Amino acid sequence: AIIVLDFGSQYSRLITRRIRECRVYSELVPANTTLAQLKQKSHLDIKGFVLSGGPSSVYDEGAPICDPEILHSGLPILGICYGMHLLALQLNGHVAPASGSREYGPATIEVSAEAANDPQIFRIFEGIKVSPEQTEHLDQVPQWSLRLPVWMSHGDSVDVLPEGFKVLACTESNPMAVIAHPRGLVGFQFHPEVAHTPQGKEMLYNFLFRICECEPGWTSSSVIDETVALIREQVGSERVICALSGGVDSAVAALLIHRAIGDQLICVFVDTGCMRAGEREQVVDTFASHFHIPLVVVDARQRFLSRLANVVDPEQKRKIIGEEFIRVFEQEASKLEEEHGPIPFLAQGTLYPDVIESTSHDTASTARRIKTHHNVGGLPEEMVFKLVEPLRTLFKDEVREVGLVLGLPEEWVWRHPFPGPGLAIRIIGAVDEGKLETLRAADKIVVEEIRNAGVYRELGQAFAVLTPLQSVGVMGDFRTYANVLAVRAVTTGDFMTADWARLSPNLLARISNRVVNEVPGVNRVVYDITSKPPATIEWE
Ligand code: XMP
Repeated sequence: AIIVLDFGSQYSRLITRRIRECRVYSELVPANTTLAQLKQKSHLDIKGFVLSGGPSSVYDEGAPICDPEILHSGLPILGICYGMHLLALQLNGHVAPASGSREYGPATIEVSAEAANDPQIFRIFEGIKVSPEQTEHLDQVPQWSLRLPVWMSHGDSVDVLPEGFKVLACTESNPMAVIAHPRGLVGFQFHPEVAHTPQGKEMLYNFLFRICECEPGWTSSSVIDETVALIREQVGSERVICALSGGVDSAVAALLIHRAIGDQLICVFVDTGCMRAGEREQVVDTFASHFHIPLVVVDARQRFLSRLANVVDPEQKRKIIGEEFIRVFEQEASKLEEEHGPIPFLAQGTLYPDVIESTSHDTASTARRIKTHHNVGGLPEEMVFKLVEPLRTLFKDEVREVGLVLGLPEEWVWRHPFPGPGLAIRIIGAVDEGKLETLRAADKIVVEEIRNAGVYRELGQAFAVLTPLQSVGVMGDFRTYANVLAVRAVTTGDFMTADWARLSPNLLARISNRVVNEVPGVNRVVYDITSKPPATIEWE
């Protein structure tokens, strides 16, 4: 594994991803992690370190530093930007404080002739070619010379080399843009992990395979084998309960656990009544019928609907659905315990980004246990589960790959995210069975047409919203007075910001025609053309 120490750069996560794209396992850990702590993680065979960039100057008060044991471990280290400054400073070089402004944006590095002739130093650039368009204006340049476009973002810069280091490349304004030590220590003033450094991935590749001597063995199959072994070790012969939501994360988590412990896993699907058309049937078909995984389907539609009656406030809807879900789930777990004996483990589809987020704020390695409280008579005061989280080391796209390898249907693997409160927050105003039926029918058409047009995968989310607004229409000889349905489709990377999707007018026309003709209670369709911010993706 390659350990990335996170000094706070917005790109830290990206470094980890780029390394994994080269099929090498990588973990992102807080800046103050020590070599001793890392050695306790038995699953890590550490081949090298990356020190990320960060927003601080090494001269800021309280600026994070790297455990000296890591620097002297003898393992290769790539320091990027702030990481390079630390490498230089902590190995007794010197860093010049920023002279006011930061250097930000594109730059060109030029590899020095002397360094190019030193194979140990040059390894990081080996095999990297400049593309023809980049060399067009450089016909006077000697054979060895490499000039590469890179992306800079820094204030400080190294001005005195630590012992044993050589300058490998400079820029016009920075005489020490790349430094290296023959024992595999490299400092980059620029960011190889961003797309604006076109050969950056090749440089990381060289670091991994020529300097750290990693093996490219991190694949979905190896992830599955390792995870299955870890689950067996953790769970032993005990039972695990898993709530399937219909989304990709809980489905892949369940498949991994089932592969590890077979029928010691029991899956529960709670039908809240706020699911989309066909969702419950699909869960049953896939899990019970196809994978033969023990599945308990709880029909809780009436419970949810009666608690939601006349509730208009979106936050209140969320709260009710969240609470009710826990109650139903706990009652079911208690019943299953009476039937099968204790169920100490709860499966969760926690992903790596959530793990990174929580560990960067709380570096103490606390045991993860969750407690759920309820106040239903006759049940124990509180239930305590130990968590099984088989996706803790994976990014979303890796979860999808694993899902495909495990045989999860493609349609499921690429399904858009769906909020826990479901259709209840896509009906503006009070929720009832009639409105749910209307929305389900309309939503099915929206998604079907988007899939048929071949654009589903390009979208982050696409769905229908039932508004309480009524408007006048005409159908045949009759005047109608029915609801307005809104169609929402967005493109997004991280769901924090989003843009409305530029769906083709023909696609929108097909959606609108079908909805108005096929869905009773809707006589007008509008398309939401608001980005996030200022709007949100959901309407409630
Ligand atoms: P917004 O509407 O805030 O949504 O732009 C961002 C993403 O979060 C989802 N979302 C939810 N997911 N429970 C969930 O599990 C919720 O209460 C909830 N509200 C919004 C939304 O679908 C989108 O993907």
